[in-house]
Amino acid sequence: MNILVTGGAGYIGSNLVDQLVGSGHTVSVLDDLSTGKRSNLSKSINNIDFIEGSILDEEVVRREVGRVELVYHLAAAVGVGNIVAQPLQSIITNSRGTENVLDACFKSEAQVVVASTSEIYGKSAKLPMCEDDDRVLGSTRINRWSYSTAKALDEHLAFAYAEQGLAMSIIRYFNSYGPRIDEKGYGSVVANFLRQALANEPLTVHGSGEQTRCFTYVEDSVRGTILAASTPAAKSGVFNIGNNVEMTINDLAKMIIAATNSSSTIQHISHDERYGAGFEDTKRRVPDMNRAKTVLGYEPLTDFATGLNKTIAWWTSNLS
Ligand SMILES: NC(=O)c1ccc[n+]([C@@H]2O[C@H](COP(=O)([O-])OP(=O)(O)OC[C@H]3O[C@@H](n4cnc5c(N)ncnc54)[C@H](O)[C@@H]3O)[C@@H](O)[C@H]2O)c1
Repeated sequence: MNILVTGGAGYIGSNLVDQLVGSGHTVSVLDDLSTGKRSNLSKSINNIDFIEGSILDEEVVRREVGRVELVYHLAAAVGVGNIVAQPLQSIITNSRGTENVLDACFKSEAQVVVASTSEIYGKSAKLPMCEDDDRVLGSTRINRWSYSTAKALDEHLAFAYAEQGLAMSIIRYFNSYGPRIDEKGYGSVVANFLRQALANEPLTVHGSGEQTRCFTYVEDSVRGTILAASTPAAKSGVFNIGNNVEMTINDLAKMIIAATNSSSTIQHISHDERYGAGFEDTKRRVPDMNRAKTVLGYEPLTDFATGLNKTIAWWTSNLS
């Protein structure tokens, strides 16, 4: 197939590109390199068409989407730190940029997979989180919720275009980690801890550290992404792509210290200290994986200890 990956120079996007190229597809990448890197594409660069440009550029989007049958739309402003620091640019990228991509896909009759997020559920206390659950968000004065809101608008738009005939599916990633993970990116807690542990610096845990997350190895994130495109029954659907093994951030820090043989200690800092006054966090976040399993045949295959060791191996040979 002819496939476009927006955000294909990013962490998940580049892992997806390598997989698609390896399966014999003709792949192009549209990325503005704001958080992505050319080096992420070094394995596939000779076999892809790389376009440095923005999803905010309607003309470029229309031209590149017009050349393909399938679009994986991953380009976005990501990471709580980035969103809080640059709310306006993040909102524009994540709402207008996605609107451009969806509109171009609709007009050229290309299929699209839209990357969404577990942030959609906000601070909902209902666990596990099912795709059709209510969303629970804080005040619009709290910048972090703008990411969830922009991604929710993307989902609404995708559903609305689907009613007009667009072939689309939506995936909600839950904390992906693995090779090419980036401190600036979404999965920054694993990346931050790895950097700190390998430098024998204190691991900075935000808040009490008793908040939980479920971490998904990137090969599993990519497999779920491809299944959302290749499974006919996934059309017009939304799917959690994650792993339901829950871990506190304190335990994550301890595991990373042990796996890297680090002499680091654990230091707790308040959310306000890290993100400014009035920051709100999600206490627990666990995906319900039933729909992904039943409809897509998706199950995460890599346990955390194995995925962590692979990530450390990549980190030490690429970043240390
Ligand atoms: N990593 C996770 O755990 C996670 C969790 C939930 C959702 N997501 C979603 O998955 C997708 C990929 O995230 P990631 O973790 O790989 O982050 P990433 O920052 O590595 O990837 C995003 C890519 O989009 C590019 N980009 C940003 N703005 C752009 C623009 N205007 N035009 C073109 N390209 C642009 C960046 O340069 C980067 O390469 C995003 O849509 C993100 O919201 C990721």
